[in-house]
Amino acid sequence: MKENPQKEALRPPEIPEKFLPRHIALVMDGNGRWATERGLERTEGHKRGEKVLMDVVDACLALGIEYLSAYAFSTENWRRSRDEVRFLMGFNRDVLRRQRDVLHEKGVRVVWAGRRPRLWRSVIRELEAAEELTRHNTRMTLVMCVNYGGRAELIDGISTLIDKANRGEITRRDVTEKNLQRYLYDPGMPEVDLFLRPSGEKRTSNFLLWQSAYAEHVYQDVLFPDYTPQHLFDAVTEYAHRDRRFGGTK
Ligand code: IPE
Ligand code: IPE
Ligand code: MG
Repeated sequence: MKENPQKEALRPPEIPEKFLPRHIALVMDGNGRWATERGLERTEGHKRGEKVLMDVVDACLALGIEYLSAYAFSTENWRRSRDEVRFLMGFNRDVLRRQRDVLHEKGVRVVWAGRRPRLWRSVIRELEAAEELTRHNTRMTLVMCVNYGGRAELIDGISTLIDKANRGEITRRDVTEKNLQRYLYDPGMPEVDLFLRPSGEKRTSNFLLWQSAYAEHVYQDVLFPDYTPQHLFDAVTEYAHRDRRFGGTK
């Protein structure tokens, strides 16, 4: 029996590998508006996001994307109502618990990027369980950005460098881009090639600031709960036509 007929219909565009993004950063935004427009609680929008993220993972696998970073909860999202924060914490914990075996079967390695303090212990436990289960997978890496902030990440990395300097392990000369990268949440993360944000908002909201220095941005006018693999394919196709110069000339 066909489990998921839509999945079989996934037809990624044919794009030569050198024009494909290696790393896609995705701001999963617009859940609240999606729900409010329908007279539902904002949390209903978040719930819809689970399947959408899994579909995006499948679309990335079909394309052969190496890294997908998904912004699930920012260091600024604590400013929301207590009820919404509580929902989001429990929801992230449950999504990880529900999906980690599915992701593992697909060969996806799950990595957590984010700050430990303040994050619910049960969420950290599920993130670490998913990391542990999937650590040897090589098909694709899914970075779950939970309690993530680009500024927080830089401050944490710089703090580590300063601690090392104070212990005499490094000197001023060791403060290099390469060494700071080593103390970011996921040191192995390649630079972001394609920065994606649905929902119509055109801002980065503190996502992967360091890694996105030369990312191509694509903003799409669709709320995340309505996001489909086709939206991802469209964005990747647009990316493939961008002229990336990295400050140089042709
Ligand atoms: C994104 O959707 C999910 C999180 C930030 C956790 P929002 O909740 O920001 O939805 P909008 O932007 O208010 O519509
Ligand atoms: C960014 O969306 C954070 C996540 C999607 C997790 P927000 O909805 O929090 O960002 P702003 O408030 O529109 O900048
Ligand atoms: Mg939002």
